[in-house]
Amino acid sequence: MQSATAVGIVSTGKALPVSRVTNFDLENIVDTSDKWIRERTGIEERYILSNDETNSKLSLTASKIALDKAGLKPKDIDLIIVATVTPDMIFPSTACLIQSELNACNAAAFDLAAGCTGFLYGLNVAEQYIKTGAAKNVLLVGADTLSPVIDWQDRNTCVLFGDGAGAVILSEVERGRGLMASKLFSDGSKAGLLYVPAGGSRAPATVRTVEERMHYIKMNGPEVFKFAVTVMIDSTKEILNLCEKKPEDLDYLIPHQANVRIINAASKRLRLKPEQVLLNIQRYGNMSSASIPVVLDEAVEEGKIKPGNLIALVSFGAGLTWGAALLKW
Ligand code: ACO
Repeated sequence: MQSATAVGIVSTGKALPVSRVTNFDLENIVDTSDKWIRERTGIEERYILSNDETNSKLSLTASKIALDKAGLKPKDIDLIIVATVTPDMIFPSTACLIQSELNACNAAAFDLAAGCTGFLYGLNVAEQYIKTGAAKNVLLVGADTLSPVIDWQDRNTCVLFGDGAGAVILSEVERGRGLMASKLFSDGSKAGLLYVPAGGSRAPATVRTVEERMHYIKMNGPEVFKFAVTVMIDSTKEILNLCEKKPEDLDYLIPHQANVRIINAASKRLRLKPEQVLLNIQRYGNMSSASIPVVLDEAVEEGKIKPGNLIALVSFGAGLTWGAALLKW
């Protein structure tokens, strides 16, 4: 899969809300226990928006860190993509809000909605822009703040999610490095497995939609679970096959951090060793589009990821959507 231009991630950044919420804190809100949450999901704590924190503010902080690390100025960015399903507002896009705050005066800006697969969709789009010469430097943010759309009375969902943002800068890199392949998938017939019924143009906010709790996430957990295990395995295999690689060739798999049991089931079937699989779900819960870029940022900062490492990214989410990417660091 060699192409004339190699596109890679040249820097990373992350931002989290200030407020840390443990499983024990949740025991005071719904009928749950630290034991149940840890055993059934792997989550121990998560960060949740408070005071005046917003998606765009987290995205901005993560973006500034990534820009600094890349040694770029905001004016060097041609395109800003924010992968999110929880923008500050229906419109304008969160990407435009960041563009203004950064004074990235040369950048086009838009949001991209692909559920928890948003970061991988963004990676694929950014790659096309750079490969075709339409952009030189792309700022891609994966940011989600699901806490305002979580039903804090529903123990099936409220224990799972956390808020956060991860940012990367994509630019041309030397041949043989960067993104080797990426594949995206969707199946809209499964939209009803994970959705927020109201708040869009189909069911705008009314007294009834509020009373019926229609502005909150509805999820068929067991069905999403089964689907996730299958597509995580299949799309990881597919991306490796495309590049004539095998699971044992991977230095790291960075899976979407939704449930440690999903990750363990998929890793086992792929015959991956535990040290090949990067996890931070215990500290952050499911941060949707932010999950993968935050794991990536931490692994780079900790010195785990080194130049030349072969890394697979794989995710699934609302839509339903799923996808995978393979990159050489
Ligand atoms: N505390 C205590 N008990 C609970 C809790 C809780 N927080 N949540 C559910 N239970 C109970 C259920 O009510 C049920 O009780 P019952 O048997 O008396 O009815 C029991 O636990 C078992 O419920 P299951 O749904 O079978 O539990 P399961 O082991 O499947 O775990 C979970 C549920 C964690 C939701 C799992 O199905 C899952 O992780 N699914 C995938 C969800 C996911 O990844 N969503 C994100 C998609 S990505 C995106 O785009 C946002």
